[in-house]
Amino acid sequence: MSNLFKKIASKKSGARIALAIIAISIFTASVGREVYFTKVSVVPKKDSVASVKAFMQVYEVLTHPRCMNCHPAGDIPLQGEDSHLHAMLPKRGVDGKGVYAMKCSNCHQPTNSPGLHTPPGNPNWHLPPADMKMIFQGKSPRELAKQLLDPATNSHKTHEQLIEHVSFDKLVVGGWSPGEGRELPPGTHKEFVAKFKTWIETGAYVPSADAKAPIKKNR
Ligand code: HEC
Ligand code: HEC
Repeated sequence: MSNLFKKIASKKSGARIALAIIAISIFTASVGREVYFTKVSVVPKKDSVASVKAFMQVYEVLTHPRCMNCHPAGDIPLQGEDSHLHAMLPKRGVDGKGVYAMKCSNCHQPTNSPGLHTPPGNPNWHLPPADMKMIFQGKSPRELAKQLLDPATNSHKTHEQLIEHVSFDKLVVGGWSPGEGRELPPGTHKEFVAKFKTWIETGAYVPSADAKAPIKKNR
């Protein structure tokens, strides 16, 4: 460092240094403007350790009852903190919206109903459809990561569309206002989105086969 400084100083060209400083500040100003007007997307480095670590935190949310209860292994939604089968056994149906008189929207209104043990609300409350079940229940971290990344099992979503889904989908966002008496998924929605982005942007790595779901309390 000091060597470099001496080298520059030895040229005795104060004027040149001053010019250089002016040039650098003009450059920074124009870059600054560019940052202001156009969205510069920084592509983070691939990092398998950071990516898998972020996914394990994403997995904690996906397998939380607020999310998993609508992503069951079978064709009946789940309920409660212990994810038991939904009372009265409403079925998925072809479009995920129930069958015959047991349509989800008969009971699940556009907003949460007041009181304990009342149906949580959302304008489009339903399960994933029969031909694209998006099952979270019972999946290992590796299985679930693969399923989310594969267009054949994620309803043909790109990485960007996955990020968009977890950022803005009303059912996802609604997980953090689930109605009275229900536990929230770990962390905030914002933190969940940040982890999801980190997982994808550092390379969308899939956990190894021996990566285990952390043991959960009360479940
Ligand atoms: C007959 C009324 C009724 C129908 C039809 C119905 N639900 Fe429900 N649902 C409820 C009630 C009431 C609760 C709240 C139960 C409680 O908290 O004890 C509930 C809770 C749930 C939960 C649990 C939410 C959570 O965060 O734990 C899910 C998931 C759910 N319903 C999905 C569905 C889906 C999907 C359908 C359609 C396939 C459906 N329900 C049809 C009445 C109904
Ligand atoms: C009321 C039921 C319901 C609840 C509650 C719910 N989901 Fe979903 N989820 C769905 C449906 C239906 C789809 C399919 C919609 C689509 O593909 O656009 C879906 C799709 C997804 C997808 C895309 C999966 C893929 O493979 O493309 C993700 C990720 C997801 N949900 C995460 C969550 C998270 C996280 C929560 C909890 C915070 C949650 N969901 C709660 C019904 C639900």
